[in-house]
Amino acid sequence: MHGLEVEVAGIMLKNPTMLASGIMGLSAASLRRAVRGGAGAVVAKSCSSQPREGNPNPTVIEVPPRGLLNSVGLANPGCRELAEELRKLGGEVPVIASVYGFSPEEYAENAVLMQQAGVDGVELNLSCPNVEGTVFGYREELAQEVVSEVKRRVKLPVFAKLTADAGDVVSVAKACEEAGADGITAINTLRAMSIDLTARQPVLGNRVGGLSGACLKPVALRCVYEIAEEVRIPVIGCGGISTGRDAVEFFLAGARAVQIGTAVLYRGLNVFRKVAQEIAEYLEERGYSSVGDITGMAHR
Ligand code: SIN
Repeated sequence: MHGLEVEVAGIMLKNPTMLASGIMGLSAASLRRAVRGGAGAVVAKSCSSQPREGNPNPTVIEVPPRGLLNSVGLANPGCRELAEELRKLGGEVPVIASVYGFSPEEYAENAVLMQQAGVDGVELNLSCPNVEGTVFGYREELAQEVVSEVKRRVKLPVFAKLTADAGDVVSVAKACEEAGADGITAINTLRAMSIDLTARQPVLGNRVGGLSGACLKPVALRCVYEIAEEVRIPVIGCGGISTGRDAVEFFLAGARAVQIGTAVLYRGLNVFRKVAQEIAEYLEERGYSSVGDITGMAHR
């Protein structure tokens, strides 16, 4: 398709759509389905040193229009088992592992395991709202410690996934860049809740969860725009992207690529192909030859 190839921190993507972490990312089979749906890269579910069951049910509810509230709690089979799954992927598209931990050392150990599994990059989940003790992205110095330790131990491109729940996400992004991050993913879900009127109690088992989907887009876009003004490393947009027009807004704000998660539910697994096609149409109609031509244009 027309001018869709992008490079992000040395990783070549045939188109700028990526599967976001947390959606279908626990097995080679489900990641392959996103690849068949046209994703230019896939990000696996965040994994930890030890298997983790996650939070009590209910953990996912729909929030109209086109949104989800989840309190999954980073449920995963552990990095070793997930690494075996990622090994099975045949290099059809770049594979990014997502890791988290309760200390910088644990992040780094998990990143090393993923490097050994042959992934193309590592995303550091510094921003999950559902597990206490893992949100290193709330503060510059904590985020910096994690990024430095991981960079010391792995050779792969390292992306820091941040949250707008941090007091100043732009400063956190700058701190990550200073610590050696190769890219920023902005943003994770936002802390939110829903209350059941009959039970008069929070709906989620964990009471509070993370909001994703359409309503997140303006916040994510603002974060990408502001971060892109301040850092030189690539920014990957994430939050409420479900159409090519959404993606184009993120490119204009300065994103090099976009991640899609919740929209898989509403537009199906082919959402990646559809969004890529819609981006190509936008470029062609306006006479641009590549995504790079419009990246950051809203800043000029
Ligand atoms: C979760 O597993 O709780 C969601 C992951 C995240 O938001 O980072």
